[in-house]
Amino acid sequence: MRRLKRLRKNAALRDLVAQANLKVSHLVMPYFVREGKQLKQPIQSMPGIFRFSGDRLLKDVEEAKRVGINSIILFGIPKNKDEKAVSAYQEDGVIQKAVALLKKNFGDELVVITDVCLCEYTSHGHCGILKNCRPSSIVHRPSLNAIPDNDATLKVLVKIALSHARAGADIVAPSSMMDGQVGAIRKALDEKGFMETAIMGYSAKFASGFYGPFREAAGSMMKFGDRKSYQMDYRNSDEALREIEADIQEGADIVMVKPALSYLDIIAKAKEKFSVPLAAFNVSGEYAMVKSYSQSQVTSHKSQDIERDLALEILTSIKRAGADIIITYWAKDVAKWLTS
Ligand code: PBG
Ligand code: ZN
Repeated sequence: MRRLKRLRKNAALRDLVAQANLKVSHLVMPYFVREGKQLKQPIQSMPGIFRFSGDRLLKDVEEAKRVGINSIILFGIPKNKDEKAVSAYQEDGVIQKAVALLKKNFGDELVVITDVCLCEYTSHGHCGILKNCRPSSIVHRPSLNAIPDNDATLKVLVKIALSHARAGADIVAPSSMMDGQVGAIRKALDEKGFMETAIMGYSAKFASGFYGPFREAAGSMMKFGDRKSYQMDYRNSDEALREIEADIQEGADIVMVKPALSYLDIIAKAKEKFSVPLAAFNVSGEYAMVKSYSQSQVTSHKSQDIERDLALEILTSIKRAGADIIITYWAKDVAKWLTS
């Protein structure tokens, strides 16, 4: 009789034949940055994650680096929002200042990725300049969805990406799902001399309920409508591959599938089909789900073990599906878990 479990007998044997292994150098830690000083504000729906002012961000990144996390992605929470997302590309904007500060302190020893989108900076909370933005026009039509003006939005995305590159970002990551965003940004970066600034496309980004906690954290909840008119429909997978292909053709250095957990099939297909580094975003809702279950188990005194086991299972499955890079709110924790 063939005994398939012969190699499962003990940890050393299991380790010998383990195929998918998490690596700390492949993890990216997300950070929310706000204005102000000495601030580290907890985010209710995401226990363990905070909104930092620049000075406190520096300290936390120092901590992350100490456990081996060398890559981060930044999301900005600006003081002011308007219909045109002006605060997203100002030289002294929240992200621009944070990037400059981080680069001054850590230089090449920290990979700084910036999210390039409008939703955190627009008064309506959508990822683009809207064609139908006036709240007065929607009063009598509550079902009316937001339709972004693709090409007007591209111009703003280019300004944002350039301002991040100027501040010193290593990688800019357009996440608005506008057609042509990677190409427009690549062209502008090259023209302005930022040939070395890389682009990570949020290529296959699905309209997902799993972004809920992020929107609370970033204060980017939409004032009306949803994102289904520009983010992808979760019933489709061929379309995801076309989106990824387009980003690669436009010059993306890294492509992404987001969310990760409900989209492992997309990750697997993308890995098979394309040969650029593939990232997966283990999003806020995926984190919050595990947090709330594990925190509900306090009486068993094993709450932290439950969280660790679930997180490692989820993240390893994302790796097994084919992701090269994983963006996860557990990045720092994983680094500690893997070395302890
Ligand atoms: C901005 C952006 C979002 C996320 C990453 N970049 C929110 C959204 O599209 O609504 C979500 C990340 C997460 O949920 O962890 N467009
Ligand atoms: Zn957005």
